[in-house]
Amino acid sequence: MLSHLQTSIGKLKLENPIIIASGVCGFGEENVEVLNQCGAVVFKTLTLNPKKGNPTPRVAEFPYGMLNSIGLENPGIDGIKDKISYIKKLKCKKIASFLAEKEDEFFLILEKLENYKIFDGYEINLSCPNVEKGRWFYDTKILKNILKNLRQNTKKPLIAKLSSEKNLLENVRIIKNLNFDAITLLNTYTAIAVDYKNIKFKLGNIYGGYSGPAIKPLVQRWVYDIRKKFDIDIIASGGIISGVDVVEYLLLGAKAVQIGSAYFRNPNLPSECINFLKNYLEVKKLSLKQIIGLLK
Ligand SMILES: Cc1cc2nc3c(=O)[nH]c(=O)nc-3n(C[C@H](O)[C@H](O)[C@H](O)COP(=O)(O)O)c2cc1C
Repeated sequence: MLSHLQTSIGKLKLENPIIIASGVCGFGEENVEVLNQCGAVVFKTLTLNPKKGNPTPRVAEFPYGMLNSIGLENPGIDGIKDKISYIKKLKCKKIASFLAEKEDEFFLILEKLENYKIFDGYEINLSCPNVEKGRWFYDTKILKNILKNLRQNTKKPLIAKLSSEKNLLENVRIIKNLNFDAITLLNTYTAIAVDYKNIKFKLGNIYGGYSGPAIKPLVQRWVYDIRKKFDIDIIASGGIISGVDVVEYLLLGAKAVQIGSAYFRNPNLPSECINFLKNYLEVKKLSLKQIIGLLK
């Protein structure tokens, strides 16, 4: 059957390649039906202790994207205890995202997440533009140390979420050599927005992360380049607003994609993308496997 949509990310098997990106759904109950149609959900990034996030305003909208500086507001690892029954209800694969502000916090966080026994894998957020501490992609030596220890401490699938701002290719090489299951390309792009009328910055934090259609060609370039250079599974994240974008990323070599900010405007987007992809495969008489990386 050509239109079956199963894909795999390292050891992680997904019913289809549509993943909800971190930060898009919190741990709320309202999204169960949508999430159950997806291959996986990556939950909001957790830190060891609760975080209040950045000063407001935290969001600025543009015609081709949005700037956010949420600053990882989250209840902390222990704060999700009362969400366990909700998370268990989900039929899609459940991926926890986490970030440690200090190097030695990583292992405590991992241990606590493992103890919940509900997650199918982990996405390590190494690239959040909205926090002062925890942007580990800047230092390849420390990054290697952290990821090596994480790999030694779990058998579950591990995904590293990266930034193109520094050391991208070097970091991918390290991650590949440490037997990570996949990389997510990319996080939001550090950016600022100006309110010229009131002569001030639009965000309380000045800096934010830019997402949406404007970043898609930039991310596509990296998906293509990294696919050519490295044998590692790629999850693409950046600017998906329709099934067309999904197919483009798959043709460039991504094995799965994440839907981010467009989900806020259109919660039906995951099912629209799935239908579009099924149709596309039928019309082209190709399997999902055949279209992944078809563009050489
Ligand atoms: C409001 C908002 C919050 C986000 N929070 C997180 C987060 O907690 N962890 C993370 O790894 N990425 C976070 N992201 C980044 C998204 O997961 C995604 O990588 C990025 O938005 C690019 O995809 P898009 O262009 O489809 O939005 C957030 C993005 C937005 C817009």
